[in-house]
Amino acid sequence: MEPSALVTGAARGIGHSVVTQLRKAGYRVIALDRAPEVTDLAEDGWIVPLIADVTADETPTAAVDRAVSEFGQLDLLVNNAARFLRRPALETSDEDFDALIATNVRPAFRFARAALPRLAETNGCIVNTASISGLIGVPNQVAYAMTKGAIVQLTRQLAVEWAARGVRINAVAPGAVDTGFMDEARAADPDPAASLAVTLANHPIGRMSTPDEVARAIVFLASPESAGITGTILSVDGGYVAR
Ligand SMILES: NC(=O)c1ccc[n+]([C@@H]2O[C@H](COP(=O)([O-])OP(=O)(O)OC[C@H]3O[C@@H](n4cnc5c(N)ncnc54)[C@H](O)[C@@H]3O)[C@@H](O)[C@H]2O)c1
Repeated sequence: MEPSALVTGAARGIGHSVVTQLRKAGYRVIALDRAPEVTDLAEDGWIVPLIADVTADETPTAAVDRAVSEFGQLDLLVNNAARFLRRPALETSDEDFDALIATNVRPAFRFARAALPRLAETNGCIVNTASISGLIGVPNQVAYAMTKGAIVQLTRQLAVEWAARGVRINAVAPGAVDTGFMDEARAADPDPAASLAVTLANHPIGRMSTPDEVARAIVFLASPESAGITGTILSVDGGYVAR
């Protein structure tokens, strides 16, 4: 039986690439996003789009149930959906902070909690999308960086708690990736060209990563090739945190 996966934030960017790479690797996939464009991924018997908001109370359980009803099992959860906010600390409101936690942290925990009993039946995996912002200090993104630090610790904590039950939990920590997420953040900067130059200078390989490069690392962390790896935060950052 082919393995099955549930991917959040699948309509574009890294999540879209993850769905495509998983399909190539032989997975059947529930592709979840609140954006209706996620339906473009539909492929009979292989990719089932699910339009849903990760912050809604019912979404995690409904999505896991859907994976099991469509495919009979769940082998992989990819907690990928998130929002970015570039804002200095003193300009970050209570509402900003609460909204980032509500989108980037609470659903990742709730999806994991809904999926873990199913993943224990298949010796499955969770791969979370963290960020270099969860590992090192990056100016003017305190609320976002705190959410990614929480994803790092969610990964380590669950890895230790579930290792004996055969579930591996890892994360990727991308640097700048060439997606709409970065385009939108940069467009809001006073000088987008200067902002891009700073971003590139911070990455020793001199470019942003591609969504496919991050997706391939996620597929690796879900595959038997990484059977000895759990609780790891794999940087996919062109050398950013190595400097
Ligand atoms: N792009 C980067 O430079 C970068 C760097 C480090 C980490 N990341 C992380 O990678 C992940 C994916 O980022 P991306 O660059 O592909 O972003 P993106 O904005 O291109 O895609 C994010 C997707 O998540 C969906 N989404 C957002 N909120 C949602 C919600 N409440 N419910 C359902 N779907 C929702 C969006 O509709 C979108 O399709 C995020 O966790 C992000 O923090 C991105």
